[in-house]
Amino acid sequence: MQFKKNNVYLRNKQTMIFRIKILFCSLFLFIVVQSIIYIRSIDFFKSYHKYFVPKHDLYCHFLSVYDTLPSVKDDKIVKDTSIFFLETSCNSYNRGKILIRSRQACAVESAARMNPNKTVYLLYASPGMFRDDHTQSDELIKNLMAYSNIKLQYLNMKKFVQGTPVEKLWTSEKIYRSKYILPHMSDILRYLTLWKYGGIYIDLDVIVTKNLDSLEQNFAGAEDSNYIASGVMGFSSKGIGHQYVNSCVYDLAENFDGDAWSANGPLVVTNLGNRLCNADFKDFIGQSCQDFHIYPPEAFYAIPFHTWEQFFNNSELANVKEKTQDSYLIHVWNKLSYHAKIPIEDDVPYLDFARKYCPGTVRHLKRYF
Ligand SMILES: *[C@@H]1O[C@H](CO)[C@@H](O)[C@H](O)[C@H]1NC(C)=O
Ligand SMILES: *[C@@H]1O[C@H](CO)[C@@H](O)[C@H](O)[C@H]1NC(C)=O
Repeated sequence: MQFKKNNVYLRNKQTMIFRIKILFCSLFLFIVVQSIIYIRSIDFFKSYHKYFVPKHDLYCHFLSVYDTLPSVKDDKIVKDTSIFFLETSCNSYNRGKILIRSRQACAVESAARMNPNKTVYLLYASPGMFRDDHTQSDELIKNLMAYSNIKLQYLNMKKFVQGTPVEKLWTSEKIYRSKYILPHMSDILRYLTLWKYGGIYIDLDVIVTKNLDSLEQNFAGAEDSNYIASGVMGFSSKGIGHQYVNSCVYDLAENFDGDAWSANGPLVVTNLGNRLCNADFKDFIGQSCQDFHIYPPEAFYAIPFHTWEQFFNNSELANVKEKTQDSYLIHVWNKLSYHAKIPIEDDVPYLDFARKYCPGTVRHLKRYF
């Protein structure tokens, strides 16, 4: 009897010790977890204040959002044979989600369809993920993602400029104080992208109507006899082409002017043309100067900006088709034309081209293009 009692007592004692151990372990774990939560909240607080969200139009470049599209990886980009579109603005960002507009989707889809052997990148400078809520924008993005030669990726500005000639310009935030913050950032990014990877840069307000393999490696297009435009450009990632785009990037970094709209885009490539031709480029339109080809306006800008409305006028269909028959793409001057909504039953030239060259995009339009 005595023995049994002792045994029970012993067992109770062991259970007690076991319980105390469990209690201490739990307490310890609790403290550890709470500390981690606390430290993380301080960290978040600090970084939130350090990178406070700026009030300018490109605020989204400064958001520290963890969920993004796959990031651009320098070593994964197919050099020299890729086509790049850049979404620099923050219109493409809404509460952690990326968006696309129908005309942008059309540009990317048309480029991919006409160039099955090239990889077409749409790089977002805004963070955010793709999330399918069945909106028009979501359907358009899904349509693009279904193409094996289209890649949608996130371009983290801070990382993208690191170690490049424009890093100082970027960290100085001079660009963000520019009067033309969006066009100027877009100017810098296009040259910098070609500086890194070579290949072809194209504006998002186009529809690509031809295969681009026959283009010279180093080129841009004249808009008229005064300007070479920067809406479509190509450079090689090595050799002389890289030297040319390198001189453009240094030109930008050293002479950046936040007060003049065209200073950092068209003027940079116009100056390059004049320099390489050793004369006014206008006498060399359709020719090459030191392996830099200057395409005539018909190639990319067949309808000049001051007649942009022709793309939106039914009566101009035949005229627009004729003028653009030798073009590689049509450029619709978004800066002037973005507000001209096209109902999907219309037959204006722009939508007519869209039906032919970006059918997937047109299929998902709800009311307007
Ligand atoms: C794409 O590449 C394939 C295989 O190299 C070739 O047969 C085809 O003609 C190319 N297409 C275009 C449009 O260049
Ligand atoms: C459309 O084009 C026709 C023919 O060029 C022209 O007469 C008409 O004024 C244009 N319409 C608009 C709204 O610009």
